[in-house]
Amino acid sequence: MWVQNGDPGTGYLPRRVDLSAYIEATTPPNSHRYIARWSNMILLENVVKRYEMGPVSVTALDGVNLEVSRGEFVVILGPSGSGKSTLLNMVSALDTPTSGRVVVNGQDLSRAGQAEKFKFRRETIGFIFQTFNLFPTLTAVENVQFAVDVRGRSQANGQAATVLEKVGLTARMNHFPHELSGGEQQRVAIARALATGNPLLLADEPTGELDFQTGIQILTLLAAQAATGKTVLVVTHNREISRIADRVVELSSGHIENDGPPRGGKAAISDLHW
Ligand SMILES: Nc1ncnc2c1ncn2[C@@H]1O[C@H](COP(=O)(O)OP(=O)(O)O)[C@@H](O)[C@H]1O
Ligand SMILES: [Mg+2]
Repeated sequence: MWVQNGDPGTGYLPRRVDLSAYIEATTPPNSHRYIARWSNMILLENVVKRYEMGPVSVTALDGVNLEVSRGEFVVILGPSGSGKSTLLNMVSALDTPTSGRVVVNGQDLSRAGQAEKFKFRRETIGFIFQTFNLFPTLTAVENVQFAVDVRGRSQANGQAATVLEKVGLTARMNHFPHELSGGEQQRVAIARALATGNPLLLADEPTGELDFQTGIQILTLLAAQAATGKTVLVVTHNREISRIADRVVELSSGHIENDGPPRGGKAAISDLHW
């Protein structure tokens, strides 16, 4: 909840004051207001992102408003160039909006400095890239262990080997990325994101490089994470994939064109074809 401060001329005071800390302190945990506040993992308010390249300006996001609750499994669907990756970059604080507000896990990223953004990414985000981004000179288990070490062993979600077991890669633990198939590499990347124990998983076209069967395995893993209470955002240009989400946010030229359950209702993973 936000109120205008009413005195924007004071220079050092924020123009708007966040009352959420006050509300948290004064609202009993079982009330609706408390639940509404804490169920919200992502809030984008009128987010605009423009890339200026000399005389040319590209508007990648053009006034995006989006709220995602904790534990939601959301597919961001849109054609190439519609702003999907830009949106993930805003949510993960890898990039800054030209205007608008981004609040993730209760933290206003529009006001965060570099150090806070590093901390935010380390403690909140698990990012799964289309091209896996594994360290080529580290084995599968070392790639996952690296994330555990960065996160801090006490906070991390178990041992690297245990997490690799969850994604079915125990037998491949000591292999290097180039010795693994695309699907196996993507499973290592997912294990790496899970090993942090972080609450928000962002996946940018995670099945883009994979064949159908392997893609299904990856989606199953991600959907299972949402079922354990993680918030999962999967970006894709493939409408078929969006059928298994609770919610599909359709982007077109930087706008949200549709936001709701998949057309024709939610499908089981076994019903997908692509
Ligand atoms: N770093 C950048 N510099 C300039 N233009 C960019 C940059 N990143 C993305 N764009 C442009 O912004 C638009 C949205 O890009 P992007 O978010 O990557 O789309 P998507 O992931 O849906 O394919 C595209 O027109 C793209 O060319
Ligand atoms: Mg993209």
